[in-house]
Amino acid sequence: MKIGLFDSGLGGLIVTHGLLRALPKYDYIYLGDTARVPYGNRSQEMIYQFTRDAVEYLLGQDCQLVIVACNTASAQALRRIQQEYLPQAYPDRRVLGVLIPAAEEAVKQTKNGNIGVIATQGTVQSDAYPREIHKLQPDANVFQQATPLLVPLIENDSLKYAAPILDDYLAPLLAKNIDTLILGCTHYPLLKQQIQARIGDKIAVIGQDTIISAKLNDYLRRHPEIEQKLTRHETHRLLTTDLAPSTGEVAKQLFGRPVQLEKIAL
Ligand code: DGL
Repeated sequence: MKIGLFDSGLGGLIVTHGLLRALPKYDYIYLGDTARVPYGNRSQEMIYQFTRDAVEYLLGQDCQLVIVACNTASAQALRRIQQEYLPQAYPDRRVLGVLIPAAEEAVKQTKNGNIGVIATQGTVQSDAYPREIHKLQPDANVFQQATPLLVPLIENDSLKYAAPILDDYLAPLLAKNIDTLILGCTHYPLLKQQIQARIGDKIAVIGQDTIISAKLNDYLRRHPEIEQKLTRHETHRLLTTDLAPSTGEVAKQLFGRPVQLEKIAL
């Protein structure tokens, strides 16, 4: 059985690339809902329905484990999928998110307890990051900034326009004396260098491109009953729900090398 990864668009390819490098022996299927991206400014019900469709598709493709590599979906839909959908539909499968690993890493890195989060509107409104961080460090100060223009810039291959937008988004967080910044969206590692250049190297930047593979490795070690079901043929398939003219180029940037994408319908 395979490991499934889901994102609202192409950003999850960054996480997938990290997993293929760190844990190459397994078989992976990635599904990016490029026809319906962005999710970040949609209602909770819509985000749940879209996420459930995608998770259902991946479970139907023989995935033992699905990683919801989208913060918005992790924040707004994951709990309901784990509590309502999965026990009925696939009780022996697992669906995991990307939010708690980032919260854990931030708590590990912060020294002054002031943690900034940039994320989509949906993730910020859910308050999922402050909730998870406070479970780990009750006295942490969490400052969130919704950054809704960043995903469209990335998905449209328009990073050259990011500079003034980033300056605007980051200024309120810098004013709060943060020493750690969570990139609370799977797309944002692509902006890591631009962000670090603006905030300086004294602020730790947490991106999901690197931390998810270590967390998954740890999870599989603690859950041999899941790990034993995974096949080891070193294969991967990359699926999207739309193939626009720019999709291949954006996917190549995010994945770090040319990709072969297959279009599917949900
Ligand atoms: N990839 C999603 C996330 O990590 C954001 C993209 C979207 O708005 O759909 O939050």
